[in-house]
Amino acid sequence: MDKPTTDLAVDEIELGSLETWLRDDREGIFAKLRDERPVSFHAEQMYATDEQGEPLMPPGPGFWAVTRYDDVMRVSRDPETFHSAPSTNIGDIPPDIAEWLGSMINMDAPKHTKLRLVVNRGFTPRRVARIEESVCEQAAEIVDRVSPLGECDFVTEIAAALPLQIICDMMGIPRADTPRIFELTNTILGVGDPEYVSTFEELTAAGMELYQYGLDLGERRLSEPTDDITSTLMHAEVDGDSLTTSELGSFFLLLVVAGNETTRNAISHGMLALTHNPDQRKRWIEDFERVSPTAVEEIVRWATPVIHFRRTATADAVVGEQPVKEGDKVVMFYNSADRDERAFADPYRFDVTRTPNEHLGFGGGGPHFCLGANLARREIKVMFEELFRRLPDIEITGEPAMLQSAFIHGVKRMPCAFTPTKG
Ligand code: HEM
Repeated sequence: MDKPTTDLAVDEIELGSLETWLRDDREGIFAKLRDERPVSFHAEQMYATDEQGEPLMPPGPGFWAVTRYDDVMRVSRDPETFHSAPSTNIGDIPPDIAEWLGSMINMDAPKHTKLRLVVNRGFTPRRVARIEESVCEQAAEIVDRVSPLGECDFVTEIAAALPLQIICDMMGIPRADTPRIFELTNTILGVGDPEYVSTFEELTAAGMELYQYGLDLGERRLSEPTDDITSTLMHAEVDGDSLTTSELGSFFLLLVVAGNETTRNAISHGMLALTHNPDQRKRWIEDFERVSPTAVEEIVRWATPVIHFRRTATADAVVGEQPVKEGDKVVMFYNSADRDERAFADPYRFDVTRTPNEHLGFGGGGPHFCLGANLARREIKVMFEELFRRLPDIEITGEPAMLQSAFIHGVKRMPCAFTPTKG
């Protein structure tokens, strides 16, 4: 595949502006940065605003964009120099919402280490194996629902339905509440996309509602435990510590957002890539079990659903050849690392047998590495297994409507068609 290009000169590239993210030469922009200025500085031009359009926080000082694979790994694996607090998003969090948004993803050792040890209890291989059955059942139900139709929206009716339901089942959330949870996560991750969020107040309200939902659930399980993860987390003790209900509220908020939109986008980008690359689809279907491990990794690399996370330098340091100062924001662009020609042969080729494939879709390693990576891998495999078996000619039939976001590589809608079956 040819290397993508851009007409922009390197000095004209502004990663802090949403305009850049709406352009169709994004791949070219990152290829240019990797080659000519692998660590570059950008002004922050995307602010959270109130109903009058006034910024809620003073403009941030700008950020360093890290675009090469090796440099992203270096930052990710040096948590002493590059902290996750105060925020892993480019903009700082307004103090009044920091309390409920203060989940483990924005923490450092020793608090993060303690929380991670507790929540790991909910994601042991045994736990994930127990969920396996529910993943298969959910995938079958999704295909049952759409199979007589012959066409549907792939994102909302197929890809999005699975991860949400799995997390809700794991956490012990009643089925009747899942549509509301889904709506709230869309509001939170659609920041910047006018279809989902019109005001910062709506965003705050959605986060607050999810946090409160998790907190209430935690309280109920504290007094009446069941066999769900919420009960495990509320009763797990590590060195005499367990989760407070407030910590569970924040964790719940993180989990529904982190586990939902990411996996859904991986499945959607995967289906699109398989439609565009019929030879790869054939290769996978013909030898499903054997090819699945590499196909799933390639889907996550290809999609890289989380575009970036930020760290904050705790001391003067050097990234690549670029000196950064204590207090500087350093942003790891996973999307760029996963297309880095220095790390991947022919990175713009979708190859279901790609080996090796040490992509950074689940993070660049270090203490925050994706907690749900194994679960996500299972979900992607099971969803495609069910689709290939029951709707073997399914394909995407129109242009995807992309989420307007610099944070989530998301597809909002995308039509698909297949020969209808009786369900
Ligand atoms: C394809 C799907 C997914 C992708 C691409 C993805 C990506 C990521 C990335 C990039 C990070 C940050 C890693 C770092 O900073 O080193 C992360 C963290 C996290 N992910 Fe995932 N994720 C996915 C699925 C899931 C699922 C299914 C769950 C849970 C059910 C989950 C839960 C989490 C949590 C809790 C964290 C924070 C861990 C910590 O701070 O210690 N993710 N994920």
